[in-house]
This record gives sequence, C-alpha cells and structure tokens, in this order.
Amino acid sequence: MRILVTGGAGFIGANYIHYMLEKYEDVEIVNLDNLTYAGNLENLKEWEGDKRYKFIKGDICDENDVSRAMEGADVVAHFAAESHVDRSILGPAAFIETNIVGTQVLLDAALKANVKRFHHVSTDEVFGSLGPNEPKFNEDTPYDPRSPYSASKASSDHVVRAYHHTYGLPITISNCSNNYGPYQFPEKLIPLFVTNLVEGKKVPLYGDGMNIRDWLHVLDHAEAIDVIIRNGKEGETYCVGGNSEKTNKEITYKILEIMGKDEESIRQVEDRKGHDRRYAIDASKIKKELGWEPKYSFEDGLKETVEWFLNNKDWWQKIKSGDYQKYYEKQYGGKL
Ligand code: NAD
Ligand code: TYD
Repeated sequence: MRILVTGGAGFIGANYIHYMLEKYEDVEIVNLDNLTYAGNLENLKEWEGDKRYKFIKGDICDENDVSRAMEGADVVAHFAAESHVDRSILGPAAFIETNIVGTQVLLDAALKANVKRFHHVSTDEVFGSLGPNEPKFNEDTPYDPRSPYSASKASSDHVVRAYHHTYGLPITISNCSNNYGPYQFPEKLIPLFVTNLVEGKKVPLYGDGMNIRDWLHVLDHAEAIDVIIRNGKEGETYCVGGNSEKTNKEITYKILEIMGKDEESIRQVEDRKGHDRRYAIDASKIKKELGWEPKYSFEDGLKETVEWFLNNKDWWQKIKSGDYQKYYEKQYGGKL
C-alpha cells in the first residue's frame, strides 16, 4: 500500500509515519510537506534513506507539486494544515489558503488518480464550545466553529464530504481532540510549558485556566487513523478522543509536579480572544464499529512526554533559539 501523507513533517503526521513504518513491512510512504515553520525533517531522520520512505518538498495548494506526489498513491492521509489557534487570530489568511484551498487541490488530484481512500484529519474544534454540563461532541453534533482555525477546518470537512457526495470520492474523516506527545511544536500548551520550565521561564496560563480540553496521546491518534483507513466505512466520519477531560490548570499543576516546580512558575496572562471553553469527544462510534480505544492513560502519557522533551533538548532548543530557521534556509535555500 502506498500512502501519500501530507504534512508528514509536522507533529501528528510525523508520529503517524513512525507508527506506520514501524508496524507494517509492506507500506510505502510519500511525505508531501512544504516545511512551514511547523515542519521539521529532523522528526523523521531515522527513515532517511529507507526505500519505503520518500520526502517531497511541496505545497498542497500547488497542483504540480500535488500531482507529482500523488503518482501511484493508493491512499491519501491528509494532515497538512495551519494548526495553531493563536496564529489564526493574528493572521487568518494562511489558514484559509492551506486548510481550505489546499484541501480542495488535493481532492481534485485524488479524484483524478482514482485513490482507494482519501482520509481527512480534522479536529473537534469544528463543533464549537461546550458548557460545563452539555453532552460531549459526537458525529451528529452540528458544526459551530468559532476561531479562524476551526472555521477553516470546518470548511475543509464540508468540501471533503462534498467530493464524496458529488463525485463519489471514497473519503473518511476523523475529528479528533487535543493531541500531545513527542515532536509537538513548542508553541502548544504542553510542550511550551515543559520547555519554558526547563529554561527557567514562567508558564503563561490564559485567563482563569479553567478551559477544558480532552487529551489524547498522538500514537493513539495514529492508530485510530490507521484503523479508520483500513476498516472504516466510505463516506463516514469518526470522532476520536481520549476520554480525558482536563482543565488547563490541572495540566499545568501536573507538569509542575512532574518537573519539581511550584505555582510560583505560573504567570496568569490575558485570555485568548474568543477562547472556547470546553471540548469533549464521545468516541463510542469508533469503539463500537471499529474496536478502537485509547491505550495511553493521560498520567503515563504526560510523564513519558515530559521525559521525551527532557531527553531531546537539542530538538526543541534549535527551534526556540531560531537556529532551526537558519538550518532550513541552508538546507533548502530561501526563506521558510
Ligand atoms: P503541525 O502544525 O505540527 O504540522 C502541520 C504540517 O503541515 C507541517 O509539517 C507543515 O510544514 C505542513 N504544511 C502546512 N502547510 C502546508 C502546505 N501548504 N503544503 C504542505 N504542507 C504544509 O500540525 P499537527 O498538530 O501535526 O496537526 C496535523 C493535522 O491534525 C492538522 O490537520 C490539524 O488540524 C489536525 N489536528 C490536530 C490536533 C492537535 O491537537 N494538534 C488535533 C486534532 C486534529
Ligand atoms: P493549544 O495547545 O493552543 O490547543 P487548542 O487551542 O487548539 O486547544 O491550547 C490548549 C489550551 O491551553 C487552550 O485552552 C489554550 C491554553 N493555553 C494557555 O493557557 N497558554 C498557552 O500559552 C497556550 C499555548 C495555550
């Protein structure tokens, strides 16, 4: 099976590639990624030179790049996106371009190439924000996105479904909750807080710290995507979550405890604009129909993740220091 992975140099895409190449002998991966600030080939350096893995530097919005990468693909696993809510508040245009237009360019190419499956990796943020006692999101929850990021992802979900209903493209979609784990870019909550503490800095907790997210280890997400691509029904959507709702404050205190720090290290800062209060996923459909459920407990997964960041300082210090930018300029020429 040849899988075109888009955005494979990012956090979840890279973990998915590791997962697939480690698990299956007979899988070939083509990774199409244009290496934005979030793409990092160091995430995949152990596969460089492996005949089952090929990297193509290219943009999902560019028809030529996409048709070159699509050659011979049986399956598309589409991760590439602008993914950070705070950045979408500062500059929505790149989100509209990559997440919506890029997805449509890929869909066209997938249709032409007659792929057997186009899997679209989406987020629970498309469903909006829950109150404390409202039921969790499921596959029937109406869309109600509220940030430029979630609005662009919601839009791409609709376009993907439209290609199924209109042209018969064999698609599946997963809407997943917040991921954490190795290789997560240190602008997101968990890696930012862990790396700040190592650097002796404070951790910026937004607002009252009582916003809730449902956390899932990234390798559980990789497994869910694999299961959906192999056994999921064409045209279907699956909600994927960790059944692990935590307030940001709880997570902050857990990280402080693991790292032997105290609340002196917390800096309460102004809230994010339009900050969604609570996300929570009811993952009973994927459990019932496909037998998937998370393997990691949040406690063990978080400890392991903190350890990964402590053992891989070189990886994130390059990113945080700006050396990373220089490295890619040198490697690929031109600015990122
Ligand atoms: P990320 O920002 O770490 O990685 C995104 C990758 O896409 C990077 O390698 C980047 O270089 C690449 N990319 C961006 N624009 C591109 C373009 N125009 N052409 C080619 N490549 C491009 O993101 P992530 O956290 O790994 O998220 C991956 C996917 O999973 C996204 O679609 C996101 O919406 C979805 N998702 C993320 C989470 C989460 O908690 N991080 C949860 C649910 C769903
Ligand atoms: P984030 O990792 O950006 O994921 P998302 O916004 O997609 O859920 O943020 C997770 C939660 O942590 C969210 O409620 C915002 C909060 N947060 C902070 O309190 N401080 C920070 O510095 C960051 C990046 C996030």
